[in-house]
Amino acid sequence: MTTTLAFDVYGTLIDTHGIVAALQPQLGHRAIDFSRAWRDKQLEYSFRRGLMKQYESFAVCTGQALDHTCSQFGLSLGPAAREKLLDAYRALPAFKDAREGLARVREAGFRLFAFSNGPAEAVGSLLAQAGLRDFFLDVVSVDEVKSFKPDPGVYTHFLQRAGATGGDAWMISSNPFDVLGALSAGMRAAWVQRSPEALFDPWGIEPTVTVDSLSDLVARIHP
Ligand code: LAC
Repeated sequence: MTTTLAFDVYGTLIDTHGIVAALQPQLGHRAIDFSRAWRDKQLEYSFRRGLMKQYESFAVCTGQALDHTCSQFGLSLGPAAREKLLDAYRALPAFKDAREGLARVREAGFRLFAFSNGPAEAVGSLLAQAGLRDFFLDVVSVDEVKSFKPDPGVYTHFLQRAGATGGDAWMISSNPFDVLGALSAGMRAAWVQRSPEALFDPWGIEPTVTVDSLSDLVARIHP
């Protein structure tokens, strides 16, 4: 069986802090702190909605997290400015190592899927505008089972959709909660440590491998 790779999207292939340039006119030097707070709140809303079984799409989590972060930073956005920021979020840039890393694993014969909290259509167009869509056999979304990472059910769903088993599939993610979720559901997992300051959770469960760039992936993962 050919080994399957599930690539996380936001934070792994696509740089969520690519939004900073669009925030700078209103926020100046506070733009990076705003971007981090927005991303943290977006993920918190997905975790809470998953636990409460009050599913709304990741786009709703993103929009509501933006509204919360605006209140926190005292930023008042009119409807047009809000929509413009969310449009920019739908067209975030890829990380610089994404194309090369994906090309190498595809050439090595792995089966590539995108697997995200985002709805499949939105993730498909995000990857297409970043020039990455064609690397993947398919886009699998948690939206198909109305829950969020790291609910074990979403990883089981991924394996079913990809026609894989935990033993022959890897999660590739910069998000420690995603790596732990996939490992706990029986997959192997590579943690992409995107900066030396990025910390892994001290739960006594370690990533199968850790890489600091997607370019190194092909040398570190094994069938
Ligand atoms: C994703 C989240 C983890 O792309 O950002 O699934």
